[in-house]
Amino acid sequence: MQRETTYDVSAIRKQFPILSRKVKGKNLVYLDNAATSQKPSSVIDALVHYYSHYNANIHRGLHTLADEATAAYEASRVAVKTFIGASSPDEIIFTKGTTESINLVAKSWGGTFLEKDDEIIISSLEHHANIVPWQMIAAEKGAKLRVIPMDDNGLLDMDAYSKMLNAKTKFVSIVHVSNALGIINPVEEIIRLAHMNNALVLLDGAQSSVHLDIDVQTLDCDFYVFSGHKIYGPTGVGVLYGKRHLLEKMPPYQGGGEMIKEVSFEKTTYNELPFKFEAGTPNIADVIALKAGIDFIDSIGKPSIRKHEEMLLEHASMHLRKIPGLKIIGDVENKVSVVSFVIDGVHPQDLAILLDNQGIAVRTGHHCAQPLMQRLGIVGTTRASFAAYNTIEEIDALVLALNKSLKMLL
Ligand code: ALA
Repeated sequence: MQRETTYDVSAIRKQFPILSRKVKGKNLVYLDNAATSQKPSSVIDALVHYYSHYNANIHRGLHTLADEATAAYEASRVAVKTFIGASSPDEIIFTKGTTESINLVAKSWGGTFLEKDDEIIISSLEHHANIVPWQMIAAEKGAKLRVIPMDDNGLLDMDAYSKMLNAKTKFVSIVHVSNALGIINPVEEIIRLAHMNNALVLLDGAQSSVHLDIDVQTLDCDFYVFSGHKIYGPTGVGVLYGKRHLLEKMPPYQGGGEMIKEVSFEKTTYNELPFKFEAGTPNIADVIALKAGIDFIDSIGKPSIRKHEEMLLEHASMHLRKIPGLKIIGDVENKVSVVSFVIDGVHPQDLAILLDNQGIAVRTGHHCAQPLMQRLGIVGTTRASFAAYNTIEEIDALVLALNKSLKMLL
């Protein structure tokens, strides 16, 4: 349940122990949230509590600790179901991250249903994790990968997309929010057009899951994938949501324990959803702690966090635009709190080192989106990305540090 509160950023910051540390003698200003968010004490405590009080393997146990661990693990599945508006916890598969979720779909669905000359559509804005698995399965099946073009601002060419759809298009796999630029893609329209063409759609929600209200049933996407560590949860746990009737038709991704119903040397029958896709001992502790990450978001409410982040984005964009030679890439209306920029005559790597010396953490480089950088004709960008706990003062510190660094570099 989300509740309305006045936004108290200092109370929020107090929940994150790491935010009080120093870097190179300066207060840490953490603006690399698109890479991974920091963790509130509740998430850290959930991990410690599991290992200190009820560490046990799940599902198989016939003892108190196993029952407690199983209950907490399944409670997390229910929390994820509610978080993204799925119709059943059976549609929630735990993986190790967005990348594994996409690989699972490409291998299991693509390996079964793609045929020679079929077409898969992705976009110019994709992270490598939503390019490479499709290239691999396309090569294996003799299918073709097609790419929706974009304009110089990073906006997808929807006319080109609608013309690309044809009888051979079987799958559209699209990033909901660009990790490199923060642009929100028009996924509702992408899904509608794909479905009119009988193609399935996977949304890469690695960045959207933390910023946008997600309802997979309203979106009507066939698959939605994201990572726990970007939503204030731990690393090593991710989610694959899939519509039940699709998951039921897909073969297991890996074989082993927990995904079986019965095994003999002659034949194996597979377990029900969601266990069919969770072979081996899963990442129990991190799955359990993921719920604490979701609870943290719910305790403030995504709309309140979004409003705060939009205010930070506006403040940052306004001040960064004033820096001579600085150009924001993807400076469009419909975006989340990510600001990616280049500065004439400055290599992003040099800038990162100077900013780090001033306690400021940003990401520089190609952001695992090399084809996007090639399309933009740049080696990379400097990216500042904001979260629930960031402040106006931190943005001002970034701008000040940038101006200082430019004096040294230019
Ligand atoms: N995909 C993550 C990023 O954008 C790691 O930084």
